[in-house]
Amino acid sequence: MHCAQKISDNIFWIGSNDWTTPRFENLFPIPHGVSYNSYFIDDEKTCVIDTVDKMIRDEFLNNVHHLLNGRQLDYIVINHMEPDHCAVLLDLVKEYPHVTLVGNATTFKMFEQFYGTPCPDNYHLVKEGDVLDLGTHKLTTYTMPMVHWPEVTATYESTTGTLFSADAFGTFGTVNGNIFADQVDYSLSYEDEARRYYVNIVGKYGPQVQNALRKLSKLPINMIAPLHGPLYRTPETINYIIEKYQYWSTYSAEKQGVVIAFASMYGHTADMAQQLAKLLSSRGITDIKMYDVSKTHASYIISDAWKYSHLVCLSPTYNLGLYLAMDAFLHELAALNFSNHKVSIVGNHTWASAAMKRMTALFTDTFKNMEIVGEPLDIKSALHEAQLPAFEELADTIATSIRETEIKTF
Ligand code: FEO
Repeated sequence: MHCAQKISDNIFWIGSNDWTTPRFENLFPIPHGVSYNSYFIDDEKTCVIDTVDKMIRDEFLNNVHHLLNGRQLDYIVINHMEPDHCAVLLDLVKEYPHVTLVGNATTFKMFEQFYGTPCPDNYHLVKEGDVLDLGTHKLTTYTMPMVHWPEVTATYESTTGTLFSADAFGTFGTVNGNIFADQVDYSLSYEDEARRYYVNIVGKYGPQVQNALRKLSKLPINMIAPLHGPLYRTPETINYIIEKYQYWSTYSAEKQGVVIAFASMYGHTADMAQQLAKLLSSRGITDIKMYDVSKTHASYIISDAWKYSHLVCLSPTYNLGLYLAMDAFLHELAALNFSNHKVSIVGNHTWASAAMKRMTALFTDTFKNMEIVGEPLDIKSALHEAQLPAFEELADTIATSIRETEIKTF
């Protein structure tokens, strides 16, 4: 059965939901599922904008067949060649062998790498600013390299002011009948997952996202139609998500506050983390987030680290180095180019001190523009009364720093 939904007079959402895949890219847990969005334009020429993941192949093909109603498919615009959006592409090419594939040179190189089936007679090469005329609808290509792969483009439909934005402005989480952001409480239903999606999938490429935002801000946009999650069709929701992207792509904290990320083998470092949280709370700090890096998937901790102004890392030494789960967490955070935040450090060791030194060196040498708040502490084995003054002093310094941190406005 088809599940297409009209999004403007002759443009349809033809995506669907995936509740089955446990991890996006086989990496990131998606407990609320994910949608793969695709779009159909019904004009003198028929056109599909991107396809979908193999998990929703049948629903997608039902939608296309329903809307074509026996006609030929004239165009497929390929904004992104990642398999969550092109797994069904070859199915359509085989079914409609005369279909024109719209993409750039890198798109078609990737097409041949994935499928091993060159279709040069079907290729229509486009570059920045090229316009494809479907009849009433006109599609302009805007390149968006590295948002999130090098071949990525956005396609702007000028008659309706619809921006088909590829991965940009997407989110984890299914769309549940309400395919528009203004139909749901977005901040409750999607905002955290949109941030987790952005920072973990595209977060590394902030400067490229900034380039895309600058370019697209010149367009009169009435609707943003991304490849995942709800669509944005009101000025409020469009401005809301663009403002979030300004924060996220400049690695700017959205809120004064602290994320305490700790690793603990036998509970002693966790004890220090709780002590620090209690001391910060008693100094008026609210909305404190605590995560055991061995328990919570790094994508969630990274997402909150992006959101809040301050991060505290507490870890034991392990094998003369940094405890592996903390090492992995920080490695992932660094790989995403996390920067422009403030960090405090507490190490723990019993017979060889390495964790505090390693974390301090990482934040000083590997990360960019990270301010270390307070003197890093190095505790021996367990927290005792004698060390409490040092924790009190660190809590004072962090609390003052949080209060004095200015949050940017965009
Ligand atoms: Fe949703 Fe980069 O793919």
